[in-house]
Order: sequence, then structure tokens, then C-alpha cells
Amino acid sequence: MDQELTPRQIVAELDRYVVGQHEAKRAVAIALRNRYRRRRLPPELRDEVAPKNILMIGPTGVGKTEIARRLSRLANAPFIKVEATKFTEVGYVGRDVESIIRDLVETAVRMVKLARMEKVRDRAERLAEERLLAALCPSGQAQAYNPFSALLGMSSDRPMADTDTHDDASAERRKQTRETLREQLRTGELEDRFIEIELEDDGSPMFDVFHASGMEEMGVNLKDLFSQILPRRKRKRKLTVAQARRQLIQEESQKLIDHEDAVSEAIFLAEQSGIVFIDEIDKIAAKGQGVGPDVSREGVQRDILPIVEGSTINTKYGPVRTDHILFIAAGAFHVVKPSDLIPELQGRFPIRVELESLTKDDFYRILLEPHNALVKQYAALLATEGIALEFADDAIRALAAMAEQVNTHAENIGARRLHTIMEKLLGDISFNAPDATEKCVVITEAYVHEKLRSLVQDQDLSRYIL
Ligand SMILES: Nc1ncnc2c1ncn2[C@@H]1O[C@H](COP(=O)(O)OP(=O)(O)OP(=O)(O)O)[C@@H](O)[C@H]1O
Ligand SMILES: [Mg+2]
Repeated sequence: MDQELTPRQIVAELDRYVVGQHEAKRAVAIALRNRYRRRRLPPELRDEVAPKNILMIGPTGVGKTEIARRLSRLANAPFIKVEATKFTEVGYVGRDVESIIRDLVETAVRMVKLARMEKVRDRAERLAEERLLAALCPSGQAQAYNPFSALLGMSSDRPMADTDTHDDASAERRKQTRETLREQLRTGELEDRFIEIELEDDGSPMFDVFHASGMEEMGVNLKDLFSQILPRRKRKRKLTVAQARRQLIQEESQKLIDHEDAVSEAIFLAEQSGIVFIDEIDKIAAKGQGVGPDVSREGVQRDILPIVEGSTINTKYGPVRTDHILFIAAGAFHVVKPSDLIPELQGRFPIRVELESLTKDDFYRILLEPHNALVKQYAALLATEGIALEFADDAIRALAAMAEQVNTHAENIGARRLHTIMEKLLGDISFNAPDATEKCVVITEAYVHEKLRSLVQDQDLSRYIL
């Protein structure tokens, strides 16, 4: 857990997907590293160090959400991203902001359980194999699945006391069959064979009704409650060996972990290292003293305030303190300014970073460099049709220039413009790909101009089409 990335490494990881925006990357990298530093402080001091929440400000389509998305993979901590617009003031129909924390804890629980299940995976695999064998050669009570002998590596098909009358020879034969089957299971020969296995039913759909109707807000999960009271139902299912193995490993590893302990670790993790990314925060800021819908927006801000400031939220796993959760908020702030947020909330986001508008050069790099760069995506998609798609360097420069041009004279939608432009550029090739006889396509500057120049130059057209 403590082999965490340094700020420099975090920035380097973000660089693989997000071009430029160095200041924002630095800020989140420092904030992330500070969590790690804080964990190493003596307890008295640790409680005093509050996280420095970040507000990312920048025009639309320059990478705010993208940074958050990539960060979630890096942060070795429970992380959730929410849209501020999804919440409504307490008392109105819709999700209240406390559900953010409930979701964060849920993420933490899943994280911890997955990690623990991974640790017992070897044992779970062995247990699953025994159950697969039992399903593959079911015969008599002697085959009864015995998890303990499986665990100890003993053969579970040794006749039990009351089956001693069994014919020794047939027992021996069965044992051999079993070992052959085990061999075949391991070499993967049986993957597609159908077998019937008995799995635990994971809750009946009946209780999901409550979930949908907002009963989760009570902080109690009826489904869990009932599943503790009622005995777990078993359900027979017909699956291929491959599917069955997955499910059995899942079930066995669930049984091997200590759920209560996992939950308390998860709550600790969420409280100490949790990160909440609130996107589109500008959408809940209201300009001036408004009436009508604005009242409710301000209400959402007011509801968020105690959570950001530190309070205790009840979740179905127990109370969770939010004092040390890191909040990163982002918004375009086109119409409103950060100063239009209620003052208390502004104060809770002391670190402000501005993301810059993207230039022609940025567009060029965005098209080409990120791991998921558009040029790579289109090439990969067309490769599935047997077409090799290549871009000449000057073609990419031309595309970048056009994106910038359209962004200046139509609306500035940042790198999202590249998506519309590329789609337009490659529409014909994409459409004809399955029937194309020419298997190698090179996009040249001339082709880019042919397809796009008239659109780009006609301002009215580009407003609609690009
Ligand atoms: N700096 C960048 N580097 C690489 N790709 C980028 C960059 N900025 C934006 N993109 C791409 O553009 C698209 C939109 O970016 P993103 O969702 O991050 O915008 P945003 O800043 O959150 O805008 P909004 O304020 O509208 O939410 C994404 O597909 C992303 O991959
Ligand atoms: Mg966004």
C-alpha cells in the first residue's frame, strides 16, 4: 500500500493520456502525495492535517474530466466521480448529496474485498476445482464435496465410514476417473462442457425495489438485513466449465474472507484516503440573488458544505467521517465565476488551478500522442476490417489547425472538436470499409482539405456540421 507514486510519477502517468495542463496535473499530484505523507504522521498531528481541496477551472473540453478519470486509476484509494448536477436539495425528489459518501464507502468496500479475495485466490481456486470435479463426476454420497479435505489437499473421494461396504475396485476406478478429469480441467480441455452446479443465490430481486425507490437514503440496506436473517437460497445452474469456475472461485473466495473486518478496513480507507471528484460544480452556482430553480442550486451547495467541511454521514456500513476526504471540484465557469459559489464553499477549495485553452499544437499532440489517441483508435477500428489506415504528418497538422480555426469562429469546445472533425473526415472510409478493395489508406493533407476545407471556411456550415 505504501509503495505510492511520487508526484513526478503521477504527472508522468497522467501525461500518457492528457496533453499539457501541467499546473492541474501538478496540483492533483501534490494533493495525492499529501495523503500518503499524512498517513505517516503521528496520530495527534495526523488529525490536524486537513486535505487541501482543489478547484479546477477551465473552458470546456480541455481535460478536466479526463484528468479525473485517469486519476481514479492511479489513486491507490477509494475514488468516486460525481456530477454536481445530479443532486437535488434535501427534501426534493432525487439523490441527495450524502449519497456521494455512501457511494464512496461502497467503492471502498468493493476495493478491500477484491484485494482480500485476490489474496485467498489460490485456496478458492482449489476449492472451486473440487466442486467442478464433484459436478463432473457425480456418483453416490462418497463424492460429497468436502471443503476441508480439499483445503488440506487430501482426496475428498475417500469413502466415508458408512460407505465402507463399497466395492474397493469401483472406488479405485472412480478415483482414477477423477484424476483424469482433474488433469483435463487443468489443461483446459473441458472449458466448453456444460455442467450443473449449485450456487448461492445472491439476494432476490424483490428487494431491489427498495433500492430504486430511494430507501437507500435510510442508511440501511434491507436486502442485506434480510439476507442475514433468511437462510441463503441455493440455486442450480447449468453453465460451461469456464463460467462455472469463475462463479465458484468468486463464491469460495467470498466465503474465505472476513466480511466484517473488510468493512471496517474499508471505512477506515474511505475516511483517511477517500477522494471525491465533483464535476460540473459551476452548474450549481447561481449568478446573483436568483429565485426559482436557482434556489435549489444554492440548496445543493449548502448541502455539500457540511460534507466538504467534515461531518458524519450514516451509511449502511456505519457512520463515516468526512473530515479527511479529499475533494476535487471542476467546472468550466463560463457563465458564472467561482465567486458565485456560496462563500463558505469557495473557502473549502483553497487550491485553484486553471486549465488552459488548447492550441493548435496541443491538438496535434492530442491526435497523436495519448495512449487512446483518436488516430490510434480509428486505425485500430479499421484494422478489424482489414484496412491499414495511416496519417501523413502534415494531414494531422492540418486537422489540428482546422480544429483551432473552428473553435475560434464557432464555439470553443476544446478537444471535443477533434471528435467531430475526425468523424467527418473518415465518414466515407468508415462507411465503405467492408467493401473496399484498397486495403491501405493514407490520409494526406490534400485529402483533409478535400473533405473539410469548404466546411471549415463556411462559418454557417461549420456551426452545424463540425
Ligand atoms: N489536454 C488533453 N489531452 C488529451 N485529451 C484531451 C485533453 N483535453 C480534452 N481531451 C479530450 O477531449 C474530450 C473532452 O475532455 P474532458 O471531458 O476532459 O473535458 P472537460 O474539461 O471536462 O470539459 P467540460 O467542462 O465540458 O466537462 C475527452 O475525450 C478527452 O479525451
Ligand atoms: Mg467535464
